[in-house]
Amino acid sequence: MIVIVGGGIIGISTAYRIAELQPNAEITIISKDLPESGLLNPFYTSSKAGAHFRPFPSKNEYELRDSKLTHETYKQFKKLSKLHPETSIKFMKCIDYIEYDNKLYESLSEGYTEIVEDFQIIPKCELPNNVKFGASYNSFCVNPHVYMEFMLQSLKMRQRINIIQREIYSLREVSMMYPNSTLFNCTGNGLLYDGSYDLKCYSIRGQTLLIRPPLENYELCNSRSITYQLSNGEWSFVIPRPLDGGIILGGTKNENLTNDKPIEDETKSLINNAISRFPELFNDKGELDILRINVGFRPARKTGVRIEREVIDRSTTIIHVYGFGGSGIEMSWGAAVKAVELLEMSSSNSNKSKF
Ligand SMILES: Cc1cc2nc3c(=O)[nH]c(=O)nc-3n(C[C@H](O)[C@H](O)[C@H](O)COP(=O)(O)OP(=O)(O)OC[C@H]3O[C@@H](n4cnc5c(N)ncnc54)[C@H](O)[C@@H]3O)c2cc1C
Ligand SMILES: *[C@@H]1O[C@H](CO)[C@@H](O)[C@H](O)[C@H]1NC(C)=O
Ligand SMILES: *[C@@H]1O[C@H](CO)[C@@H](O)[C@H](O)[C@H]1NC(C)=O
Ligand SMILES: *[C@@H]1O[C@H](CO)[C@@H](O)[C@H](O)[C@H]1NC(C)=O
Repeated sequence: MIVIVGGGIIGISTAYRIAELQPNAEITIISKDLPESGLLNPFYTSSKAGAHFRPFPSKNEYELRDSKLTHETYKQFKKLSKLHPETSIKFMKCIDYIEYDNKLYESLSEGYTEIVEDFQIIPKCELPNNVKFGASYNSFCVNPHVYMEFMLQSLKMRQRINIIQREIYSLREVSMMYPNSTLFNCTGNGLLYDGSYDLKCYSIRGQTLLIRPPLENYELCNSRSITYQLSNGEWSFVIPRPLDGGIILGGTKNENLTNDKPIEDETKSLINNAISRFPELFNDKGELDILRINVGFRPARKTGVRIEREVIDRSTTIIHVYGFGGSGIEMSWGAAVKAVELLEMSSSNSNKSKF
């Protein structure tokens, strides 16, 4: 029996990967939140992601290591976008604009250009006002909620899968419910065996707006994803959600802020930042048609992602898969592939294996 704790994109992708390799495996997913009830819940992070794959130059060894997880996702999503467009995965032109001098971008540091196709630096004369550096590439946008529902539906039809919606208080509790099972810890912010949390984990609050674009700009708005990084440290980006899921206008990043309700000032600054950068989102009266305000908490970890196998009390194997911060969608498939490799190691091997 394989028990996955956590039914966000990481837990569901892990189940999907196991099913691919072991069609007869018996899989249980236990999670407080699931797509069915999690769409509007701020603590169900995966539905709140934009989401796109926006590579960035690594600032440290952890970021560089984790960026490699995106490679498998890019390949898998390319395949799914053709075989299963109903996943909502769509490849399109993506653009980065940096409005301040940023050496890491200008020197195309490691982590930035290796994975995406058609990477091009935009000539200075073609850059919008105030932009110091620009680049474009081919990458994906996805409505993560739709993609998770696709995977779950497919799992329910193809696999012996048991889905239990409940909160758990420690992984020990789960190991007692399912003796001799392998547990995957996909809880976002790292619930530990003894019920405590990984102290390296923290959250980065994000607020975005779901926009219905004016009809006359509908195709344009749905044809590309653009990210501006402002000189005051703020971000202004648009991410189309394919299959007519609207346009995400983002986004804020606040470490350790716990307010789970929309913050009026953040909404105002998202709108203000968009006026000059994305005029195509506004109607001729200068208004935005806001369908929803999303609040979510990116599950960050100081030393990056943890994908690690641990054997406790000689009988319980735990595979940790958490700490994906702001990149859990783009790392999801690569993480699932890595985590399931650890499942296949026999327990007689060294009892700790690290990514
Ligand atoms: C505004 C915003 C924009 C983002 N944009 C992007 C983007 O464009 N691209 C990208 O790649 N990423 C993006 N992200 C980040 C991405 O959403 C996360 O990295 C990803 O969703 C993490 O997935 P997860 O499965 O680890 O966590 P979660 O989705 O949080 O899933 C964790 C699961 O564990 C369950 N759980 C936790 N504790 C317990 C417990 N004690 N008992 C039972 N169940 C429990 C929860 O109910 C939940 O189902 C964005 C995030 C935000 C907030
Ligand atoms: C768990 O596995 C051990 C060793 O294989 C075995 O002795 C024990 O009976 C098993 N426990 C259960 C509850 O299946
Ligand atoms: C499981 O993952 C969480 C983060 O999602 C972490 O805080 C926790 O320590 C992990 N559990 C164990 C048993 O290590
Ligand atoms: C948020 O919490 C983490 C972990 O405790 C800490 O490292 C970080 O500095 C905090 N960030 C801010 C802005 O306070």
